[in-house]
Amino acid sequence: MIKTQKGKTYHVKDLKLFKQGKYNVQLAEKNMLSLMHLRTRYVKERPFQNLRIGVNLCVTKETAVLVETLVAGGAKISLCSSNPMATQDDVAAYLASQDSIQVWAYKNESLDDFTKFLTKVSNFKPHIIIDDGGDLTAKIHHKFPTIAKSIIGGCEETTIGITRINNMSKQNILQFPVIAVNDTKTKKLVDNYYGTGQSTIDGIMRTTNTLFAGKVVVVSGYGPCGKGVSMISRGLGANVIVTEVNPFRALEAVYDGYRVMPISKAVLEGDIYITVTGNKNVIRFEHVKQMKRGSILANSGHYDYEIDVKNIYKNCKKIINIREYVEECWIDEKNYVYILSKGRVVNLSGAEGNPSEIMSTSFLGQCLACEYLLKMRGNLPKELIRFPEEMDKKIAQIQINSMNVEIDVLNEELDKESENIKK
Ligand SMILES: NC(=O)c1ccc[n+]([C@@H]2O[C@H](COP(=O)([O-])OP(=O)(O)OC[C@H]3O[C@@H](n4cnc5c(N)ncnc54)[C@H](O)[C@@H]3O)[C@@H](O)[C@H]2O)c1
Repeated sequence: MIKTQKGKTYHVKDLKLFKQGKYNVQLAEKNMLSLMHLRTRYVKERPFQNLRIGVNLCVTKETAVLVETLVAGGAKISLCSSNPMATQDDVAAYLASQDSIQVWAYKNESLDDFTKFLTKVSNFKPHIIIDDGGDLTAKIHHKFPTIAKSIIGGCEETTIGITRINNMSKQNILQFPVIAVNDTKTKKLVDNYYGTGQSTIDGIMRTTNTLFAGKVVVVSGYGPCGKGVSMISRGLGANVIVTEVNPFRALEAVYDGYRVMPISKAVLEGDIYITVTGNKNVIRFEHVKQMKRGSILANSGHYDYEIDVKNIYKNCKKIINIREYVEECWIDEKNYVYILSKGRVVNLSGAEGNPSEIMSTSFLGQCLACEYLLKMRGNLPKELIRFPEEMDKKIAQIQINSMNVEIDVLNEELDKESENIKK
């Protein structure tokens, strides 16, 4: 038990929101069968007994199910939010009231608090960290080098975090191994493609109630996330234009049946713009000036720099906050665009993030990665580690088992044949 009468071990909006949070977490549990299956094993085996795990993830009802699963395995948790706008305050209140869990998060937290909360989790002296975007990994390395040295390992949840940690790995400054959980085939397929595809559109719909049918949707970035966003938009009847910088991905988009063109041309046609690139300043003021009146701009990449909101705000004549998460930005006397969630991840700020079923698979990966770090303790290089193929298969297998889906098994003859084909 972490909570004490003397020192508070949480900073949340309002503990009284506890009951709603509890109901929401229970709802998520009912849809996260694969993770709940793992929890049953953890209750018996207690693989994380007496371990401290520092978690920097969006504080959602799904993250709550992950955290309680780790606690069921014996862990003590300190949790902060990987995105200042993404916390579900009722869920944070529920978790703060639970044994063995510290919570540092509230919705729309200040950047000052965002930084302070990363420090709180660092000072917890975690044995393992679960990170989303690399901020906790970077914080511990830059500010707490002694703590970094005692960490068994980390797990990274998203694409942009992998890029940052890979850079640290190449510079030989990483003090512990980090598992690239994001890079498993199952994570990319389930979370980035199906999950982010649906929840990004959900975020735009909830904040604006706009119709997708018949609209021109411009998707910047055709990675797994962009593919999912394009697929769902098309499914809703939109005409999709893709913008890319990578010729291979552009080719995929063309063969998938989308129009591909540079953003400088797409800005003349789009009604809704969605960035999912992991890159900076993809949509700038010079683009916004050319857009149709009333165009909607949303970002679902991890950071709020994909749309260059700073310069757009600076150059706008006026900005009216017309409803929660929707700003009407007047370019001149006649023309305006809508920017959603100040350019922060629209699915997590304007909606509830990825559906529970999706996060069940993603978080299976996180749990198995934590177990792998313990099993391999002392034997992994201090680098970004690709998850072994068989672990990836294990995640997919547990997930389909939980869905009561059965598959065939290769017999010896077919097995040999498939090996020959591979050669
Ligand atoms: N919102 C969510 O819930 C969620 C979930 C998973 C990942 N993410 C984030 O979404 C982003 C994309 O993830 P991914 O897995 O698809 O990444 P990815 O790196 O596989 O794909 C990104 C694509 O964007 C392209 N790109 C880069 N700069 C561009 C530019 N200026 N114009 C057009 N295209 C450009 C790249 O060539 C690449 O094909 C990352 O920031 C990731 O962290 C968000």
